[in-house]
Amino acid sequence: MKNKTVIVTGSTSGMGKYMAERFASEGANVVLIGRNEERLAAAKNDLESTSTGNLFTVVTDVRKPEDVERMVKQSVDHYGRIDYLVNNAAGNFIAPAEELSVNGWNTVIDIVLNGTFYCSREVGKYWIDNGIKGSIINMVATYAWNAGAGVIHSSAAKAGVLNLTRTLAVEWGTKYGIRVNAIAPGPIERTGGADKLFESEKAAKRTIDSVPLKRLGTPEEIAGLADFLFSEQAAFINGEVITMDGGQWLNKFPF
Ligand code: HXC
Repeated sequence: MKNKTVIVTGSTSGMGKYMAERFASEGANVVLIGRNEERLAAAKNDLESTSTGNLFTVVTDVRKPEDVERMVKQSVDHYGRIDYLVNNAAGNFIAPAEELSVNGWNTVIDIVLNGTFYCSREVGKYWIDNGIKGSIINMVATYAWNAGAGVIHSSAAKAGVLNLTRTLAVEWGTKYGIRVNAIAPGPIERTGGADKLFESEKAAKRTIDSVPLKRLGTPEEIAGLADFLFSEQAAFINGEVITMDGGQWLNKFPF
């Protein structure tokens, strides 16, 4: 990642922050993206001690196309180039489908599906205009192809992001050599998803019991996978989704 520029959306906390930390520790130019200026400043401060690269923050709401356009322009102005994009920003909360408000549905679809499209489109246009064979990683979840009972907004949005991943992999791979892949993490400790979705001890235990490897994943493991997907070793991986969940989603008949 040395001297490569990578934009990580939703990088003030959780997996986004760990991915940013990993890239920066390898000498990358990292663009930290979030909605809140103070949280961005705090994240930058936290990463400075391990970074051998550079850190740049841009306040951006991925739901706003004009914010995304400005963010990409500022990133190019600051670093002179963009090589990689991680669409990590997400919103989620547990709500039975029949109780989910229209605004609740729209909010999550807007962050996860629309935000991923806006960022991919803006960075993709920059790559195409400049002949750069960039690479994108989209963060999904195993319920993108499975059922996401209790999180229908996130589940439907991630399914859309998975299709967007495959569609762009073909469309932009064919014409421009741009690679687009996805990571489907299972339950990962120290993330917003874990904090929100596994609130009680009972819920956490149930989750761990459902994982064949009997533990949560770590954000460092996810960051390592992202690092691999951007690397030359993964140069022939395109349109793929790599699941890192300890085998959880396959565990239909626990014994
Ligand atoms: C029911 C809720 C709700 C809840 C919000 N809403 N939280 N409804 N239960 N717990 C409803 C609100 O009432 C409102 O609808 C609408 O959603 C928008 O809420 P706001 O708070 O106005 O939106 P906003 O401030 O933009 O916040 C967006 C958010 C928030 C998604 C609601 O939680 C957020 O920003 N989260 C970002 C971080 C995050 O969620 N990370 C976890 C990602 S985990 P009404 O109708 O009242 O106006 C993940 C994968 C997990 O994605 C995979 C695990 C295996």
